[in-house]
Amino acid sequence: MAWCDNMASLTKLKGFIIFLLMAILLLHGISADNQCGIAPDDGIDAGLSELDENAWTMVERKGSQFIVNGKSFYFNGFNTYWLMVFASDQSTRGKVTEVFKQASSVGLSVCRTWAFNDGQYRALQKSPSVYDEEVFKGLDFVVSEAKKYNIRLILSLVNNWSDYGGKPQYVKWGKDAGLNLSSEDDFFSDATLKTYYKNHIKMVLSRVNTFTNVTYKDDPTIFAWELMNEPRCTSDPSGDKLQAWIQEMAAYVKSIDPKHLLEIGMEGFYGTSTPERAQFNPNTYATQVGTDFVRNHQVLGVDFASVHIYADSWISPTITDAHLQFYQSWLQAHIEDAEKSIGMPVVFAEFGVSVKDPGYNSSFRDTIYNTVYKTLVNSAKKGGSGAGSLLWQLFPEGTDYMDDGYAIVLTKSQSLADMIALNSARLELISSICSWNCRWGCKKRLLGLDPAVL
Ligand SMILES: *[C@@H]1O[C@H](CO)[C@@H](O)[C@H](O)[C@H]1NC(C)=O
Ligand SMILES: *[C@@H]1O[C@H](CO)[C@@H](O)[C@H](O)[C@H]1NC(C)=O
Ligand SMILES: *[C@@H]1O[C@H](CO)[C@@H](O)[C@H](O)[C@H]1NC(C)=O
Ligand SMILES: *[C@@H]1O[C@H](CO)[C@@H](O)[C@H](O)[C@H]1NC(C)=O
Repeated sequence: MAWCDNMASLTKLKGFIIFLLMAILLLHGISADNQCGIAPDDGIDAGLSELDENAWTMVERKGSQFIVNGKSFYFNGFNTYWLMVFASDQSTRGKVTEVFKQASSVGLSVCRTWAFNDGQYRALQKSPSVYDEEVFKGLDFVVSEAKKYNIRLILSLVNNWSDYGGKPQYVKWGKDAGLNLSSEDDFFSDATLKTYYKNHIKMVLSRVNTFTNVTYKDDPTIFAWELMNEPRCTSDPSGDKLQAWIQEMAAYVKSIDPKHLLEIGMEGFYGTSTPERAQFNPNTYATQVGTDFVRNHQVLGVDFASVHIYADSWISPTITDAHLQFYQSWLQAHIEDAEKSIGMPVVFAEFGVSVKDPGYNSSFRDTIYNTVYKTLVNSAKKGGSGAGSLLWQLFPEGTDYMDDGYAIVLTKSQSLADMIALNSARLELISSICSWNCRWGCKKRLLGLDPAVL
């Protein structure tokens, strides 16, 4: 019975009993949703009360897994980028609650959203270090409301793109202040612009939530910080400029907030440090954009990797079988790297199919979602690095005018909603059975459980 050598025999027995109960319930066809609620270990372990197990604590990382309350945390999640802006106006605030409510009804437990809006309509940061308190209260509402629905947030701190201001807005501010700037990529190297950005980091991380009185940097509702949405630095294909920026900013975030996890916000392209991995890139241009999946994620302070998947913008606008093949190899390659070369969890932080893609049909979209979900469940079952995915993007009803083609409205996509709920239940089950120091794989082997069950 030496399946997990590092466990005390009592813990072994407990794990075995929990597992057996789970397996019996599952085999009898009781929905995974219910049985996770039943918490079959109640009364078995006198050391941990139910309160402790369900306590709302920080997400941590151990090796290539996320951990919450000592248990693995494999999750199903989503993006809704506009929450802060909607929450900052009473007339649209209800949509925030609505999307959280719908998300939690299908077990989605992590949401990635923007904690920036620089110099635009309903800006959070109106000009460098000048903040709109009403918009900040909107973000406070998002954080406080997420907790009510047991949803954790990945908060992104700036955009690469001009939407919501981003890198171009920082450069414009710099020019307005008389700096001699020639490229948007000066964002990554100019001392003044770096200071502007650091001030924003400090402002957000030190914010005291006006609804909960909890300082953001102490709030377990926040899963992680993200340095930037989809950074690219095409002016320096060597990758050195972006690498130096990541090093400086990761250290800065950690100096203010050592508790929360941090990720960069990368799309996942392989760069010059790993020429042998370039074959997995969607195109040859991808090595030229100044990013480097492996090297960037080796920076001190970066806790987990992020990858985006857009076959339609990277391979071809028209849907073909090549899209599906790309999804499969892109997922596998990054899970493998996360396990073998960078030793951290990887989150597929954006993926989706647009109804505007030529050749689109909903069964193809379902196939793509199924591919992502199946791959991650298989990784989780082995205690692997594939930690979660965040679909792009979840919308409540009545926000269609904002839809870029990728939006999922659960009430309008029943087959997809069912698939999302099933994936959530599977990941929740795996997480609840599998504590980080005893891998699911070894228990499963031991019991000879039919792998088709999961
Ligand atoms: C980031 O911005 C640059 C321009 O500064 C642009 O070339 C690049 O395409 C943007 N990123 C992405 C993901 O497209
Ligand atoms: C601005 O910088 C460029 C080089 O980046 C330089 O060629 C130019 O002379 C500078 N202009 C001024 C007004 O300093
Ligand atoms: C937050 O602090 C204020 C001032 O101390 C207090 O009046 C308020 O009740 C607190 N709110 C919560 C939710 O704890
Ligand atoms: C949906 O699109 C895919 C990919 O183009 C195609 O292979 C499939 O036959 C289509 N299915 C239907 C039902 O139209």
